[in-house]
Amino acid sequence: MTQLLRKIIFPTAGMGTRFLPATKATPKEMLTIVDKPLIQYGVEEALDAGMDEIVMVTGRGKRAIEDHFDISAELEANLHAAGKDELYQTVSRVARMADVAYIRQKQPLGLGHAVLCAAAWVGDECFGISLADELILSNDDGAMQQLRAVHEQTGASVIGLACVPKDEVNRYGIVKASHEGDLLRLQAMVEKPAVDDAPSDMAMIGRYIFTPRLFDLLREAKPSVGGEIQLTDAICKLAQEEPVYGVLIEGERFDAGNPYGFLLANAKLGLQHPDYGDALRTALKSLV
Ligand code: UTP
Repeated sequence: MTQLLRKIIFPTAGMGTRFLPATKATPKEMLTIVDKPLIQYGVEEALDAGMDEIVMVTGRGKRAIEDHFDISAELEANLHAAGKDELYQTVSRVARMADVAYIRQKQPLGLGHAVLCAAAWVGDECFGISLADELILSNDDGAMQQLRAVHEQTGASVIGLACVPKDEVNRYGIVKASHEGDLLRLQAMVEKPAVDDAPSDMAMIGRYIFTPRLFDLLREAKPSVGGEIQLTDAICKLAQEEPVYGVLIEGERFDAGNPYGFLLANAKLGLQHPDYGDALRTALKSLV
């Protein structure tokens, strides 16, 4: 079963309230870090981990995501005719990098509900989930590949984790874990706990691999306030039934779903950019 891990869900139907008004008519996942939208970073990370069967759970106002991964015949023809070969290659590569399916979540009833919308598409297989507004930059293996390595070792569900400052635990799903050899086995997780109630400082950061059992638990999950179905509740139940492991992700993480994290990510990748990096460094120095 582990060798077959090729499917991955990108839930993209959220409302992006932390980034209004930018996200009023533009999907959060289409906000750009330097010159690429967030969702493309996520898809490239998934492809690097061999997860090339992709489904995006979208909602109203998210068509730009579909257009981004589609062939733009007119644009390609124009770039080709104008001899702009590098741009032509860039644009046509995006349209052909993956087969992407789209499923509509008709109402934003929570991350758990968005994942459940893709259940029939996934079927009875292990699968990944990636939240593209969490940008993770790694020098070696990408975040999904790091999860995949533990999944191949164990055949179990695996969740990406990062240690967060104590005063930020109330923004995340925080896990309770114990060591099992060199693995971290998760016992429980709490969504946005108060600082004093947090079982650890390890947060779930939007990268997951699950056995298909998760879908049964999501179907049984009771909606919470606002009718939302929480992914965290179903993971908690899963961890009581079968092993769920955590991986402290090696890499630099940016919560690009809010303006501050987004600006930091742009500064980081902008400064590294071969064309703009030096000029940006000089300009930033003159600003501060
Ligand atoms: P967030 O908690 O970041 O919510 O969702 P959001 O609506 O996108 O953004 P804020 O918090 O209001 O600013 C986590 C992930 O789950 C998806 C989002 O698109 C994001 O990738 N999601 C959330 C859905 O697909 N459907 C939902 O009903 C809720």
